[in-house]
Amino acid sequence: MKLFVDTGNVKEIEALASLGILDGVTTNPSLMARESGDYRQILKQICQIVKGPVSGEVVATDTAGMIREGREIAAIDEHMVVKVPFTKQGVEACRTLASEGTRVNVTLIFSATQAWLAAKVGASYVSPFVGRLDDIGTTGMTLIREIVDIFDNFEYATEVLVASVRHPIHVVEAARMGADVVTCPPAVIEQCFKHPLTDIGLEKFLKDWEKAQGVKA
Ligand code: G3P
Repeated sequence: MKLFVDTGNVKEIEALASLGILDGVTTNPSLMARESGDYRQILKQICQIVKGPVSGEVVATDTAGMIREGREIAAIDEHMVVKVPFTKQGVEACRTLASEGTRVNVTLIFSATQAWLAAKVGASYVSPFVGRLDDIGTTGMTLIREIVDIFDNFEYATEVLVASVRHPIHVVEAARMGADVVTCPPAVIEQCFKHPLTDIGLEKFLKDWEKAQGVKA
């Protein structure tokens, strides 16, 4: 399963990229609004750091506007993926952009039928939001299982990109269900690294080693 980071912050991306664990990046208008500077420059910089798929989202809501913005985003760098919201206009824009060879990530997916329709128009990725489904008292991960099954049944090339990830259990479940990609906020990636027994174990190894050196001296 590929790991993307869900942030527009260059410093956070640099820190994770240097560990060698990052396959790509996803951004959205809320995340980009937190960063200062021209968003195109930021996306360009991110592409140079990660050299993998980087999703940049359109803010237009009409088909022509999404296509225009999508072309601009795609022109930033060869690694750019154009993110469009799942609306009828978004589906139409996805079809046009995909037919031009642009990779499209259809976002704000909350049902299996939405994912299926996006796959039909050539989306490279669909982004189901599991955390936001959990927030309204449903089980977000059930949607991932449904989409993976449907895409497997019909051999759609569209990748399932699990988004709105809130904790490492989402990551584990996504991997077990065979999702193609999980995009995590940096805090969740940090949690994936951590285990108190690792810290305690390392401390004990080092203490025992130090003690033995003192005895030998
Ligand atoms: O980038 C889309 C998605 O991951 C947003 O997550 O936490 O705002 O629901 P969240």
